[in-house]
Amino acid sequence: MSDFAIAILAAGLGTRLKSNIAKVLHRAGGRTLIEHAVRTALEVAPAERVFVVIGHQAEAVRQVLEPFGVRFICQRDQLGTGHAIQVGREQLQGAAEHLLVFYGDTPLLRASTLRQLAEHHAQSGAAATILSVVLDDPARYGRIVRDSGGHFADIVEHKACTPEQLAIREINSGIYCFRTAALFAHIDRIGNHNKAGEYYLTDVPALLLRAGEKVEATPMGGPEEMLGVNDRVELAEMDGRLRDRKARELMLCGVTIHRPETCVIDPDVEIGRDTVVGPCVAVYGGTRIAENCVVRPFSTIADSVLEEGAVVNECCWVDRSRIGAGASIGPFARLREGSELGPQARIGNFVETKKTRLGRKSKAQHLAYLGDATIGENVNIGAGTITCNYDGEKKNPTFIEDGVFVGTNSSLVAPLRLGRNAYVAAGSVITEDVPEDSLGVARGRQVNKEGWVRKRRAARSEPRKE
Ligand code: UD1
Ligand code: CA
Repeated sequence: MSDFAIAILAAGLGTRLKSNIAKVLHRAGGRTLIEHAVRTALEVAPAERVFVVIGHQAEAVRQVLEPFGVRFICQRDQLGTGHAIQVGREQLQGAAEHLLVFYGDTPLLRASTLRQLAEHHAQSGAAATILSVVLDDPARYGRIVRDSGGHFADIVEHKACTPEQLAIREINSGIYCFRTAALFAHIDRIGNHNKAGEYYLTDVPALLLRAGEKVEATPMGGPEEMLGVNDRVELAEMDGRLRDRKARELMLCGVTIHRPETCVIDPDVEIGRDTVVGPCVAVYGGTRIAENCVVRPFSTIADSVLEEGAVVNECCWVDRSRIGAGASIGPFARLREGSELGPQARIGNFVETKKTRLGRKSKAQHLAYLGDATIGENVNIGAGTITCNYDGEKKNPTFIEDGVFVGTNSSLVAPLRLGRNAYVAAGSVITEDVPEDSLGVARGRQVNKEGWVRKRRAARSEPRKE
């Protein structure tokens, strides 16, 4: 496709979204709308021939697209889709023999459909080829009007349609292919004498036709692909469709997902075969989940790694962390950034970890906070253990060596080191290192006052007898 360049129109605010954020920066399926469009374009043309027309919040859009290396055209005032092409004349005119144009708000569009359109256009020798689609509900899309012979005659915007035209179900997808020279020979002839007062790109095909050029409208691809996002309802529907696409992809690669319609899985997430994902699970960012893992309902995993056979039980939160092979967490566990569980380690209910490493087979089964801690292998952390890692000024580290047993309800005041195989007695407040093979006890000694209850009872009842 060396003779094709691409223009993506993305300068509009998107009034119907009722937002302070430009439309193409809204997210669906885990990406901004414009990112979807650009990724699709880059499957068809190299970055130096992909041009994005930006206007509203141009800087923010530019930033999102920076990593892709595409070119930008600045449309400061958004006077319409035709105007967007007019302002790009200088860059687009010499870019390639043909120009594919589509809008930044149709994220379901597939590269294969763009390629099909381009091939058809190049073969037919048309000056313009419009990708159309027949919809059950043509809604607010521009209508494709054909003559009595069934040939393309015009695109009429929804607002300008007669009642008969409104009944037309073949619509303009907003995806076009132009012979670049023909497009720029006629683009300046469009006017803005319409209800919106805008310069419509949709007026160009009829102009070309009247100038004796060949113009075609042809249905291609699935109708879903052409859906645009214009308001928040469509944005939510679009998100659902994109999430559905991702879930299907994973399922077809061997992942079991129960009630996939309730799961939210970002596009870059990888999940291995025979892993089972329960209902209402969210997996975000660059998370990688290996084979044979289990993620139970209502858990959220962001930018994390689960190694083979790891289990995340119900209602867990895992953020920027790693769960080793066969390790398990939850229900109700919170792994904050930098938590790393070794193989077969175990984090139970109501345990929070942050920047903490737990070695092989180490356990914290209930109600603990482990922060800035390096914990060896086969360590047992009793219920209610807290690493007191913050002294009000800075965070301090705790080192717990292999085989240590920390009794229930202990406070470990950092900086601190518990030596190999050491024990900490339940209820201790440990402020000094405990050497290897030693027991650390730090609590008030128990005193039993014999007969105390009996005496108290007697003391209280006596006055009443009087
Ligand atoms: C447009 C088409 C309509 C088609 C529909 C398909 C026109 C006039 N109408 O309508 O026939 O059925 O898409 O989805 O083209 N934009 C700019 N600069 C501008 C104006 C718009 O870059 O001055 C961009 C917008 O950011 C948006 C795209 O062009 O990404 C389309 O604009 P939008 O207002 O959404 O057009 P529709 O009313 O949906
Ligand atoms: Ca639109």
